[in-house]
Amino acid sequence: MPQTTNQTITSHVLNDRQGPVLTLTINRPEKKNALTGEMYESLANAITAGAEDESLRVIIIKGGEGCFCAGNDIGDFLKIAKDGMLPTSILKFLKALAANPKPLILAIDGVAVGIGTTMCFHADLIYATERSIFSTPFLDLGLIPEAASSYLMPKTMGHVRAFEMLVLGESFTAKDAKSAGIINDITSPEELAPMVERVAARLAAKPAGAVRIAKQLMRLDLEIVEKVMEKECELFAAQLKSPEAEAAFSAFLSKSKPS
Ligand code: COA
Repeated sequence: MPQTTNQTITSHVLNDRQGPVLTLTINRPEKKNALTGEMYESLANAITAGAEDESLRVIIIKGGEGCFCAGNDIGDFLKIAKDGMLPTSILKFLKALAANPKPLILAIDGVAVGIGTTMCFHADLIYATERSIFSTPFLDLGLIPEAASSYLMPKTMGHVRAFEMLVLGESFTAKDAKSAGIINDITSPEELAPMVERVAARLAAKPAGAVRIAKQLMRLDLEIVEKVMEKECELFAAQLKSPEAEAAFSAFLSKSKPS
């Protein structure tokens, strides 16, 4: 009997297992799917458990209608800037994502900000709707790139396009993202789920051992990726406590422009 479960991991991350395919849904629409420490922890645990489950063939991560993920919760960042530490669940999630041996498909509809975009560089297939917007406004928040994006983005799209997105803070439309090699294809909001389900079923039907080895071969730089993640995390944590970052977080939360 194929395994089928549909459950809530936390109130903000849903877990739907249909046979060989696990779908994780980021579900915090009231905050545009911004990620909290607890959500990173849930996602990390689900991916790590999936890696150890022989019967699991494909993982899908999706967000909600018109909003994939608005990045890290800026309220949490402000608390850390004042008197806290970066939650360990962030690096745990990033490392689980990088080391994940199962094919990962992202289904993106709408905004994909910060980690919502940098997650793409750890996925294997990505489909997005035409209304999707990709952005990494780290620098404008007084922060620096994360999720090994300082290494993986130039590798994917070349230095100048990566600099445009990461440092200049330009947003990319779905068309821009496709031409930059960030996503595979663009579709309508109605067609996104069926398209992703069809691709997941095709992947799940392939010989699992060969798929695993092929993915591993295409990710031989995992050690470098992990080192970059650790270095970025250390610098990110320090930068979080800078006055420029604190001002940018407060400005976002009070809906004003930083002075
Ligand atoms: N952290 C915390 N709260 C967030 C958030 C985030 N990353 N993104 C959105 N929200 C909250 C807003 O504060 C707002 O909360 P409120 O209703 O209590 O005031 C709610 O989600 C809706 O957001 P809003 O900005 O009104 O929606 P929008 O459709 O006009 O814009 C975004 C959507 C995603 C473009 C915009 O919210 C945004 O730019 N968010 C910040 C993205 C970001 O910089 N992330 C960090 C990257 S490291």
